[in-house]
Amino acid sequence: MATCTVFLFLIVFNLYAFGFEEKPLNFVQIGNKYGYKVEEIIVITEDGYILKLFHIISVKSVKTPVLLMHGITDSADTWIIRGNNSLSLTLAANGYDVWVGNCRGNKYGRKHIYLDPDSDDFWDFSFHEFGYYDLSAIIDTVLYLTGSKKINLLGHSQGNAICYVLTSTRPEYNNKINILIALAPICFLQNLQPPVSKIIEVSPKLDRIAKLLNLQEVFGDNSLIVNILRKYCRIPFIGYKTCILDLLFSLSGDDIDEFEPSFVSTFVDHFPVGTSEKDLVHFAQVSLRRKFANYDYGIQRNIEIYNLTEPMEYNLSAVNIKVALLVGANDKLSTIEDVALLRERLPNVVKYLVIPRRKMNHFDFVSGLHMEDYLFPYIFDILNTDTYTEN
Ligand SMILES: *[C@@H]1O[C@H](CO)[C@@H](O)[C@H](O)[C@H]1NC(C)=O
Ligand SMILES: *[C@@H]1O[C@H](CO)[C@@H](O)[C@H](O)[C@H]1NC(C)=O
Ligand SMILES: *[C@@H]1O[C@H](CO)[C@@H](O)[C@H](O)[C@H]1NC(C)=O
Repeated sequence: MATCTVFLFLIVFNLYAFGFEEKPLNFVQIGNKYGYKVEEIIVITEDGYILKLFHIISVKSVKTPVLLMHGITDSADTWIIRGNNSLSLTLAANGYDVWVGNCRGNKYGRKHIYLDPDSDDFWDFSFHEFGYYDLSAIIDTVLYLTGSKKINLLGHSQGNAICYVLTSTRPEYNNKINILIALAPICFLQNLQPPVSKIIEVSPKLDRIAKLLNLQEVFGDNSLIVNILRKYCRIPFIGYKTCILDLLFSLSGDDIDEFEPSFVSTFVDHFPVGTSEKDLVHFAQVSLRRKFANYDYGIQRNIEIYNLTEPMEYNLSAVNIKVALLVGANDKLSTIEDVALLRERLPNVVKYLVIPRRKMNHFDFVSGLHMEDYLFPYIFDILNTDTYTEN
């Protein structure tokens, strides 16, 4: 009954709001709005996915390119929606050569050379493919276009997990990355709190329901849930309360000072974005199995695919790039306990820092209101002291 009322209300509201909405700006348009030229480069992965890579043209040029990789259900936009206070534009303003990548399935990667994005085969991927195919193709493109031998990589959340996948499965990529600056790093997920831990507990059930409904793409631009969210979250006062204070903060940690009500409409225009249901399930498996391992298809399929009854763990000992781990004390997704497990396993951690801001949550690393005060100085410090010189 209550659900019906809510839906009726939403439908009415939907009709009411119809036609009043402008299409959100894309990455290039936001860059242009703040006075930057942005190039759009097409990257095609070995397995045929077509991804957009953005390059912010800066006046001065510093040798080592910086590549930014987004988190789960996110896109390149996460690095620019704070306008000229965003990390991407702040780096560009300071003379860095900034490249911003996208993983398959999001709004800048919903294309393939022959697969139809509305077909089942298109969506058969998780963060494994983001690392193995997408990140490798993006890095090679940046190295080719710049003539540089290495990049500096900045990852947010899942943007770090994909780097561990890549460098453990294709060790030659260790030589192409000077340092990974890991913001809110995601790898192990065994110290999560409710409600996230509860959602993960029921994830096998949710997965079965999704399979029954043939739901392979989640949070796509055309999905009902995203369209409802975008409308509902914009409603003055209650939108902010429900979507941010109640929902987002319960998942990511609360930090009311860093997410002001006027930022809601920009935020929901760009987050969440589409990904595969399989990606979410793969992360849930990492949590439930307490192993950072390949996707678990069940014994029968595992034997067919891996010739093993259980999927192999990613070999973190093979990740020998330098890694700087930056962690938020109030981050409910990348918890201090889970990052400690990661830190023990990575052979070359050059810096570990819990950001001194007590309320530092998962999103403060990409869209906090005052990131330039409590986050950027550490990033600049690492980039400036850890310089890499060719040859
Ligand atoms: C950012 O842009 C705003 C308006 O677009 C401007 O007032 C402000 O000075 C800019 N800040 C920086 C650091 O460039
Ligand atoms: C599968 O694994 C078994 C036992 O480890 C091995 O003997 C066999 O050669 C493997 N088969 C293939 C096709 O790799
Ligand atoms: C993991 O990587 C390390 C370092 O490259 C290597 O010595 C070790 O044999 C690997 N372990 C497995 C199980 O492949």
